[in-house]
Amino acid sequence: MVDREAPFQFPIAGVVARRLPLYSEFEEFEEKAAEFRSPRTKRRRNPSNRPHRTRNISAAEDFVNPSSLKRPLYFPDKALAVNPLQCPDVDRYHFYPGREWRDTDGKPIQAHGGGILFVPETKTFYWYGENKDGRTYRLQKRSVARVDVIGISCYSSKDLWIWKNEGIVLGAEKVNKSHDLYVSNVLERPKVIFNDKTKQYVMWMHVDTANYSKASVGLAISPTPVGPFTYLYSGRPHAYESRDMTLFKDDDGEAYLVYSSVDNSELHIGVLTDDYLNLERKMRSIMVGMHREAPAVFKHRGMYYMITSGCTGWAPNAALAHSAESMLGPWVTLGNPCMGGNEDFRQTTFFSQGTFVLPLPGLQDLFLFMADRWNSHDLKDSRYVWLPLTMDGPVDEPLEDDFEFPLWSRVSIHWHRRWRLPLSWNLSGVRVNE
Ligand code: DGJ
Repeated sequence: MVDREAPFQFPIAGVVARRLPLYSEFEEFEEKAAEFRSPRTKRRRNPSNRPHRTRNISAAEDFVNPSSLKRPLYFPDKALAVNPLQCPDVDRYHFYPGREWRDTDGKPIQAHGGGILFVPETKTFYWYGENKDGRTYRLQKRSVARVDVIGISCYSSKDLWIWKNEGIVLGAEKVNKSHDLYVSNVLERPKVIFNDKTKQYVMWMHVDTANYSKASVGLAISPTPVGPFTYLYSGRPHAYESRDMTLFKDDDGEAYLVYSSVDNSELHIGVLTDDYLNLERKMRSIMVGMHREAPAVFKHRGMYYMITSGCTGWAPNAALAHSAESMLGPWVTLGNPCMGGNEDFRQTTFFSQGTFVLPLPGLQDLFLFMADRWNSHDLKDSRYVWLPLTMDGPVDEPLEDDFEFPLWSRVSIHWHRRWRLPLSWNLSGVRVNE
């Protein structure tokens, strides 16, 4: 019999040894999913005598419906919040994807569309994200839900579970209406990397006007990870539109900007200058015509990987994993990396949208997949979906065209209602028992 409340944690050994606990977790998930399913049809008004017509509604449509019966499953009650400094011992270090998550002050963490920087010298993680702690409104009935710009928050942690609020490290501009960070604009998806030569923390972010027509990147710098960051300027990379974006710093210090462009129909990859404050001319268009956004890049055993989402506003859609031998491509699409017992979950990235993939210091084949479960009716109450991303070894089927085996590994993001990082991974980010 499966112990339903047994926490899932990764054993020390590699992927094969993980199979067993994963499957038992899936059983638990499937049970939950069965409770989860209400009739997936919607009645139309039928003033005539015609027989009632019904229409299937998709999981994503149901998710954005504020009156959905499943709302408490998408956005669990705040009474269930994960509050690390006030939680029972059995829950210590456990992630509960989708539940509200509180900082060391007991307040909900405000770091949406974010990313994490690990500073090895102090063994500290810094989580940067959008502070959306304001009122959600629409400029017009049909326009996209928004919150006025508040700024970029930063939280610090030694264990990825207990987060201290370091404050707003780049704040909104409240007076100058022509400033990129003016409250009525858009400020999204900040990412921070450290420049080893200039010793500066460099933040790139998506800056935009309320109707998303500016489509630019903005830059800010700070001598410390906790800011305050000084805003420098914005621009269109390679003179192209840029909306969702991410940064990736390679092992050799070379850094890249990846951004959605040309009406979000393709992604572009550009190389940052040595000081990370500009772009080289070299640029590649990838995934042309595929309409992907929310890129998150990571490297594993010399190969590059990217997780992207489709473009459906705040509504969730299916993720794709991609791989390349070089950052500048060519990139190959591997498919949907989401693993879980329920098709709706897999087709909606667990009702969330990716934002970052964090390598875990000291661990080789396990990464942290970070995603946002957007609450478009109350954006400040958007939740975090953090899940284990495993690299499951070489693909065992040859490529169709030349019978060679691909170089990439299988990428899997596993659903868990409740999970924790390996016990062998100690709380300062370094493996013990080695
Ligand atoms: C999807 C993007 O990924 C988000 O960052 C945000 O821009 C929303 N669209 C707005 O609808």
